[in-house]
Amino acid sequence: MQRSVREMQLRGSRIVVTGAAGRVGFPIARHLATPELANTVYGVARLSSPGDAARLRAAGVEPVRRDFGDGSDFRDLPDADYVFHAAAALGPAAAGDWRYAFEVNAQAAGRLVERYAACRGFVYCSTGSAYRYQGARPLREDDPPGTHIGNYSFSKIAGEAVVTFASRRFGTPVTIIRIFSTYGPMGGAPADRLELILEGRPVPLHPDTPNRFNPIYEDDYVDLGVRALQVGAFPPVVVNWSGSETVAIEEYCTYLGALVGRPVRFVVDPAAYWPLWPDTTFMHEILGRTRVPWREGFRRMVAARHPELALTPSPIPAPTAE
Ligand SMILES: NC(=O)c1ccc[n+]([C@@H]2O[C@H](COP(=O)([O-])OP(=O)(O)OC[C@H]3O[C@@H](n4cnc5c(N)ncnc54)[C@H](OP(=O)(O)O)[C@@H]3O)[C@@H](O)[C@H]2O)c1
Repeated sequence: MQRSVREMQLRGSRIVVTGAAGRVGFPIARHLATPELANTVYGVARLSSPGDAARLRAAGVEPVRRDFGDGSDFRDLPDADYVFHAAAALGPAAAGDWRYAFEVNAQAAGRLVERYAACRGFVYCSTGSAYRYQGARPLREDDPPGTHIGNYSFSKIAGEAVVTFASRRFGTPVTIIRIFSTYGPMGGAPADRLELILEGRPVPLHPDTPNRFNPIYEDDYVDLGVRALQVGAFPPVVVNWSGSETVAIEEYCTYLGALVGRPVRFVVDPAAYWPLWPDTTFMHEILGRTRVPWREGFRRMVAARHPELALTPSPIPAPTAE
C-alpha cells in the first residue's frame, strides 16, 4: 500500500546519519533536520572535504567527525533512536586495500549495530553490486551474491552478514537496503554519463543490451530512506532500494543528449559493468513506490548540475496512453 510522505515522517527523534556528507546521507540528514520535524540529527563522517562540517551545520545537522576505519567501538557517539548507516569505503578506497574495505564496510557496521543495539531502527546501506549477474532479468532479494565491483562487492556482502549477526544477537530492528543507482543534484552514475555526453565521449554499454536500471531520484530516496528506518526487524528486512520505473541507459542517455543538444555515442564494451536491474515487488510492498518520473528527475538533475546550459523544452516527451 502506498503511504503518504506525511505518514512516513520521523518526528521528535534523535537520529544518527553516517556518511552524512555524501550523496545518499546528506539529503536524508538535511530532510530529517528540517525544524518542523523537531528531530536532533547527528551527521557522522570523516568530513574530509573542506566545508563539509559547515554544510551540515547550515542544514541543522550536528557534525561528528569519525573515521570508521580506526577500529573503535563507537561508545562515545551520541545516543540515538534511529541510525541510517551510509558511510562506506567506495571507489579507490575499497578497490585498493581489501582489508580496509572489510574493516569499514563490514566490521565497523557490526560494531555500530552493537553500539545502537537498543535503537528503534537501523538501516545498513548495501548495494545492488552485491548480486551475481542473472542475465537480462530483474534481480530479486533472494538471488545469490556476486562481485560486480571486486573488493567493494565482497565487503558489502560481508557487511550484510555481519549486520545480520549483530541484529539477531542484540535483537536490533535492521533494514538492509540494496541501493541501485541514485541520482540528483549531488550526482550519481546518470550524472557521470551526462558528463561523458557533454565531453563528446562514448557511453560504454554492457553487451547485454538494453542496459536496464531503475535510477532513484533524490526526493524519492529521501522518502524511501525515512521509510526504511521504520520497517526494520530482526533478523533484518532485506530489500532492493531503487526507482519504481525501469529505463535503459540507451534511452535515458538519448534523452539527456536531446535535453542538452548534444549527439550521443554508445560503445559496447565487454569489460563494462553489468546492468543492475532490480525487482521492486518487495520494495513496493514495504516501502512504497517512488514518485518522480525519470524524465522529470533527469531534467532536474541537469538543471541543478549545469545551470549554464539552456535545456530543450520537451526533447522526447513521455509516450501518451492510447
Ligand atoms: N549512490 C549510489 O548510487 C549507491 C549505490 C549502491 C550503494 N550505495 C551505498 O550507499 C552509501 C552511501 O553512498 P554515497 O553514494 O552517498 O557515497 P559518497 O557520496 O561517497 O558518500 C560516502 C560517505 O561516507 C563517508 N566515509 C567514507 N569513508 C569513511 C570512513 N572511513 N569513515 C567515516 N566516514 C566515511 C564520506 O565522507 P568523508 O569522506 O568525509 O568521510 C561520505 O560522507 C554507501 O554505503 C554505498 O555503498 C550507494
